[in-house]
Parts: sequence; structure tokens; C-alpha cells
Amino acid sequence: MLTRGFATNAVGVDGFTGAVGNTPLIYLKGLSQRTGAHIYGKAEFQNPGGSVKDRAALGVVRDAEEKGRLQPGGTVVEGTAGNTGIGLAHVCRARGYKCVIFMPETQSQEKIDLLRMLGAEVHPVPAVAYDNPKNYNHLARDYAEATVNAIWTDQFDNTANASAHYLSTGPEIWAQTRGNIDGFVCSTGTGGSLAGVGKFLKEKSGGKTEVWLADPPGSVLYSYVSSGGKLVERTGSSITEGIGQGRITKNLETIVNELSGALHIPDVKSIAMVYELLDSEGLYIGASSALNVVAAVELAQKLGPGKTVVTLLCDGAYRYQSRLFSKKWLRAKGLEDAIPDHLKKYAVLD
Ligand SMILES: Cc1ncc(COP(=O)(O)O)c(C=O)c1O
Repeated sequence: MLTRGFATNAVGVDGFTGAVGNTPLIYLKGLSQRTGAHIYGKAEFQNPGGSVKDRAALGVVRDAEEKGRLQPGGTVVEGTAGNTGIGLAHVCRARGYKCVIFMPETQSQEKIDLLRMLGAEVHPVPAVAYDNPKNYNHLARDYAEATVNAIWTDQFDNTANASAHYLSTGPEIWAQTRGNIDGFVCSTGTGGSLAGVGKFLKEKSGGKTEVWLADPPGSVLYSYVSSGGKLVERTGSSITEGIGQGRITKNLETIVNELSGALHIPDVKSIAMVYELLDSEGLYIGASSALNVVAAVELAQKLGPGKTVVTLLCDGAYRYQSRLFSKKWLRAKGLEDAIPDHLKKYAVLD
């Protein structure tokens, strides 16, 4: 049964952190009709900080509090260029912590400004490879180690990230589908969402729910999963942000051997889906979410008519609109022709 009107919450929630989670599960009607399946997107863009990473941010901070690693007035440090930093900045303001973010200086001024507006101290540092000790992640860890009452939240390898999804996103999806879910698929950055949701659904369904990984170009995970565990060189690159990975993080490690398979989604399909979801469903979502929906359609086709497939709508297009809806940018990326003619009207920026 689908609710078709306004959502109502019977009681108030406790501040910013109380508003994280409990996002709607949106039935994607057009795509469901086209495939004969039931395809849903979990509206993670409705979290109060605007993305799925609010859950991970709250999860790692709560875990540190519960373990006594973070005391009142302490400092939370992370290396991040995107949504995790935004989530952490919000959570830190709401809980009285100082937030310090290290990021590659190649990131846009808008991102730096947004984090500073949210009260974070931002350190843009030279963009160097992960194996260089001056990589932004290592600098974040070093800073936390040298600071009293500070933690490095370590989103990639801290499994409190996946646990946040195991404890919230997974159970929400199970309840919203009334346990009728044949497949779950999403892309991974840290792997927290896929691991936490996937593990919960697999356990709860007694192994019935298939869990699949979706991967953009430039990531090694598709070939890792499809080749049964061989890490290969990254090839190509992607316009998607926040996803794709060159290694098996500790979060991903907890699910990778239980996956039913992986789907490789090229950018031409992801960008077309950004426009299609806007046109047919009125949804304004970022490229990682669009990639997830393409993967959900492909998984639905594999599983067959009548099956139920769920994915995540990670964030809105607002953070990327100057690129995704710019004719110049699309041309520069060779993606102009990926957008069907009848949808080109949405590319309103020059
Ligand atoms: C827009 C977006 N989509 C997807 C992801 C992937 O989520 P996870 O880190 O849980 O794998 C991220 C992570 O930063 C993100 O920012």
C-alpha cells in the first residue's frame, strides 16, 4: 500500500540528529511500468543535511561518544571533500563539537565555503595520492592524534559507518517494503551504505534478498566482484561524485563476499537518468543516485517481472547543478548526446 498524500510525523524529533533517517521510500512508477517490476528509491536527499551521509556522520560520532573516545567539547576530524563533511559539520554544531575537515585543494570554492558556513574549520591541502603521507586522509588522522579530546572519524575503515545503515536504513527499507524485497543495489564510496543495508536485508530475509554493487567507470569494484576477487588497475574516470573506489575498505569487506554480483554503469546512462527522473518523476537528484536507479532497472530486468528492487537516492542535484545542467560542461565531457532530444530543454545553463 502506497501513501499518496503528505507524510505526517505523529511526534516531534530531537533536534538535527533526531531528524536523520526515516526517509520516504519512493515508488518509481514510470520505470516500474516499463520493467514490470516494482522499483523504489529511498529518498536519502531528505535527510536534514541533504544526503545519505548524515546517517554515517551521526553513526561515527555516536559510536565515539559511546566508547568514551569523544568527550563534551571535543573535536571531530575527517578527510572528506563532500557529503560526509557536510553531515559531520551539522552533527558537530548540533552536539557541541568542533569540526575540522581536510580536503584536496582542487575542490570547488563552493564546497569550502559551505563547510565554513556550517561552522567547520577547513584545511585545503595539496592533492596527492593515498600512499603519500601528505594525503588529506593521513593529515586528518595526524591532526586528530596531535589534538587533545579529538577523534579521526575514518569514514572508509570505521565500521560504525556501516553499522549506522544496519541499524537504520536497512530496517526502514525492510519495514517500508513489508519484507517483500527481492533485490537491493547501490554504488559505493566508503561502502558503508551497501554493507550496512545489504547485511541487514540478507539476514532478515534469510538470504532471499539479493544484494548487488553498482560501479562507475574508474572504480575497481565491478571487476573485483565479477572476477571473484582480483583487484585490477583503475581505467577511465566518471562524472559521478562520492562513489567509486580503488580498494576494499573495511566497511565493504563486511559484505563483499556475500554479493550476488556487480553492475558497471557508464556515465552516458547515469546522466540520461538524471534528466529522465526529473522529467518523468519530478525528482531532482545527483549523478550517483541516477547511477543507482539505472542499476536498479538493470537488476529488475535480471530478476524478472513482479520483483521488488530498492536503491538509494543519495543526494539532490543542487550541489552539482552548475555542471549537470550546463550545456558547456556536458559538451566538454562528451555527454551532450547522451541526453535524449526531448529532455535537452532541461540543460538551461550555458
Ligand atoms: C552523493 C553520494 N553518493 C553515494 C555515496 C556513497 O555512500 P557510501 O560512502 O555509504 O558508500 C556518497 C558518499 O560519500 C555520496 O556522497
